[in-house]
Amino acid sequence: MWTATVGALAELARLPARGHPSRAGHPLHPVRPGETAGATAGWVSGTPPIRAIITSDMKTVTVAERPDLTELGWALTSDLLPEYNNHGDVLNAYWGRLTEERPEFQFHLLGDKDEVLARARSLPVRWDGSLQDLPTGIDGAIARGFDEGGANVLCAMVIMIPRNLQGRGLSTVALQAMGELASRHGFTALIAPVRPSWKERYPLVPIERYAAWRRPDGSLFDPWMRVHERVGATILKTEPHSLRITGTVADWEEWTQMTFLDSGAYWFPGGLATVAIDRDADSGRYWEPNVWMRHVV
Ligand SMILES: CC(C)(COP(=O)(O)OP(=O)(O)OC[C@H]1O[C@@H](n2cnc3c(N)ncnc32)[C@H](O)[C@@H]1OP(=O)(O)O)[C@@H](O)C(=O)NCCC(=O)NCCS
Repeated sequence: MWTATVGALAELARLPARGHPSRAGHPLHPVRPGETAGATAGWVSGTPPIRAIITSDMKTVTVAERPDLTELGWALTSDLLPEYNNHGDVLNAYWGRLTEERPEFQFHLLGDKDEVLARARSLPVRWDGSLQDLPTGIDGAIARGFDEGGANVLCAMVIMIPRNLQGRGLSTVALQAMGELASRHGFTALIAPVRPSWKERYPLVPIERYAAWRRPDGSLFDPWMRVHERVGATILKTEPHSLRITGTVADWEEWTQMTFLDSGAYWFPGGLATVAIDRDADSGRYWEPNVWMRHVV
């Protein structure tokens, strides 16, 4: 167990998520009923917002230390990603081994009453530091982590914040804790195949272009990439073919609650790209794009 160091967020205060500073009054986030534009100090002045529900009472425990939290962590976060995301061809073949074989690299962020604030998964992998040697997306990373030795960097697999706790800066704390975990194990970097949260709003835009979008203030357009950059990460490269998900047409109809009567490329809810439906072959094929980012630890 270790106390999460929050670095630049040391001043974290017990603030509610309502009236999230990034949404209130921002041109990209029109004010919603019940919200007040510019209600939270910090955003208006252009400085990064400071917000969270936590202070020094937070702690981070690995699955090796508290295996009993695994099920609860899953239950609290299992509804966060769209159903299709649970069916990775390669990812699913390895995922269960994270907690079984590498429990010291899986952790939960806990509050002062031991409530689960974040669920985080990571895996040591070998990487020579060059763009060419980066694993092919998250599929390549998880396969390399289990199939090859010589791990020298930590690779982020996922960070999830329970829905009712989102928008309070907890992901930053979890990300920093992952960096500390990498450092404590003597790794030289934390690398992450980042799943850009808002790519689902632009599934037809190539990931190369989307990942380069910035807001007028210079920060990255994508909220989750922005969190990574704010704590010091840099973009390495985009990976259009990070996570492969294939299934029958019926599988895809179930996962997306859509009907695919014809072959072709389809947009679907929550998809970061389109799914290619082939009715003759009875298959649906999808590649989730990610963006490789690197944190120096
Ligand atoms: C992505 C995720 C980890 C972010 O966690 P979080 O603690 O809510 O993030 P933060 O409070 O630090 O907010 C990060 C950014 O997201 C945006 N954001 C957060 N909650 C939001 C909401 N409810 N509506 C709109 N934007 C929101 C904010 O713009 C914020 O950017 P800013 O700090 O520049 O304003 C969380 O939403 C999550 O668990 N999502 C589902 C799983 C997932 O996609 N994980 C990442 C891929 S592995």
